[in-house]
Amino acid sequence: MSVHIGAEKGAIAETVLLPGDPLRARYVAENFLEDSICYNEVRGMLGYTGTFDGRRVSVQGTGMGQPSLAIYATELIREYGAKNVVRIGSCGSYRKEIAVRDLVIAMSASTDSGMNRRRFGDIDFAPCADFELFDRCVTNARAAGLAFHAGNVFSADYFYDPQPDGWKALAEHGVLAVEMESAQLYTIAAGHGVRALSILTVSDNLATGEALSSEERERSFSQMVELALSLA
Ligand code: HPA
Repeated sequence: MSVHIGAEKGAIAETVLLPGDPLRARYVAENFLEDSICYNEVRGMLGYTGTFDGRRVSVQGTGMGQPSLAIYATELIREYGAKNVVRIGSCGSYRKEIAVRDLVIAMSASTDSGMNRRRFGDIDFAPCADFELFDRCVTNARAAGLAFHAGNVFSADYFYDPQPDGWKALAEHGVLAVEMESAQLYTIAAGHGVRALSILTVSDNLATGEALSSEERERSFSQMVELALSLA
C-alpha cells in the first residue's frame, strides 16, 4: 500500500496506462483487458491490472492537472516498480490543421507550472518523451493508418486561463496542443530513469472552435487506447 494507492506490492504491471478520468480506467479494463482486477479505489481513483494479448498491463486514473498526476506517477514508480508510464488523455488543438479526433503524440511538453522550478531552481528543464516508446508509438500509429501529429504540447495549470490569448505565442513557436499533465509525467519518469509517453486525442480546437461530441470522444478514445496498448 502506498499513501494514495491501496494495492499490494506486485499488483501493478510494469506498463501502466494513465487516463486522467478514473472512469476511463474502468472503461479500458472492462473493454480492452482480459481477467482484469481492480486494485485501487482510494479516493475513487480507480486502478486495474489485466492482460492484453497475453501481456500484463495496468491502467490507473491520475486526476486532472500536474499535482494530482505527480502523486500517482511517483507512487506507481517508487512503490510499485512501474517502468513504462503512458498517459492517454485529451487535448485542445492550437492549429487549424490538427483536427478533432486526430491524435497528438507528445515529443516534449512545455509548462507554466511551478513544479519544475521547485525541482530545478532557475534552470528550465525540457521534459521530453522516452525515445524508444515514442518511436514504437509512431511506427504503430503509421501501421494502423491513424491520423497523428507529433511535437511539443503545453501542459497548462489553468483550464480556465485568465490570460485567454496567452497560448498564441506558444502556437507561434510550433506547440501543437494544450493539456494538463504531460510535463510532470515526463519529468518524474526522467527523474526515476523510467520511460514515459503521452498520447492524446484532440477533443477541441482552439483555433477553429470545433469540439467533439461525447460519442465521438469515445470512438477516438478507443483508437488511442489500442495504440497505447500496442506499446505494452
Ligand atoms: N485545456 C486544457 N486541457 C485540455 C483542453 C484545453 O482546452 N482540451 C482538452 N484538454
